[in-house]
Amino acid sequence: MKSKKIFIACDTKSVKKVKKIIKETQSNKVKVGYKFGLEFFNSKNGRSYISKIKNKILFVDLKLFDIPNTCVSTIKAIKDLKIDYLTIHISAGLKALRESKKVSGKIKLVGVTTLTSFDNKSLKQIGYSKNLKKIIIQQAKLAARANLDALVCSPYEVKYVKQKFKKEIITPGIRLDSKHNDQKRVATPKKAFQNGSDWLVIGRPITKGNIKNNFNKFLENID
Ligand code: C5P
Repeated sequence: MKSKKIFIACDTKSVKKVKKIIKETQSNKVKVGYKFGLEFFNSKNGRSYISKIKNKILFVDLKLFDIPNTCVSTIKAIKDLKIDYLTIHISAGLKALRESKKVSGKIKLVGVTTLTSFDNKSLKQIGYSKNLKKIIIQQAKLAARANLDALVCSPYEVKYVKQKFKKEIITPGIRLDSKHNDQKRVATPKKAFQNGSDWLVIGRPITKGNIKNNFNKFLENID
């Protein structure tokens, strides 16, 4: 059984590039799913292409962060897509989370904790006075109260998030080397799985440059 699971972040506006990413990241060793964020979803042919993908695990990362009614309407508006996972910011609040969960049906609703591009300093800049760890524990509790299906956090937070939230944990911020880009809280794939992540999200380290070689390098370094 393929116990290790990876979402490849298809952060591009090109359908051609997505096709290439999918073609070059097939594996017998790990389960692979594909994540589409705001860039691809809002690109000219992105949404329509997502609607045509068959037999793949699909994750639409819209990171909803709005009033309850708008979150609910957005979920209803994408229900024609056969997607498996959809994100909402836990900071949207308990009411938005609960109401979204009521309409999400078969789509797994994924709560996003504090983004992996934040550290304590940048959180302070936007007015948070508690430290990252405390905020994330609080967010994990809220996600559990709202009965969300999965949660996104950095590889470092998995251990304590797991004590509050018992379902799937998805972790971006995965790197094999010191090229972090805009990510602050990063770890290697091996470490992220050891910490208890169910799914890793990997984008640029696989999709920039030689996709096949990059992907194989990750496969060699996951256990
Ligand atoms: O290229 P990279 O591996 O940094 O991509 C990480 C992906 O995960 C991006 O698509 C980003 O939007 C997403 N993500 C994240 N941090 C979160 C939630 C999602 O980096 N907390």
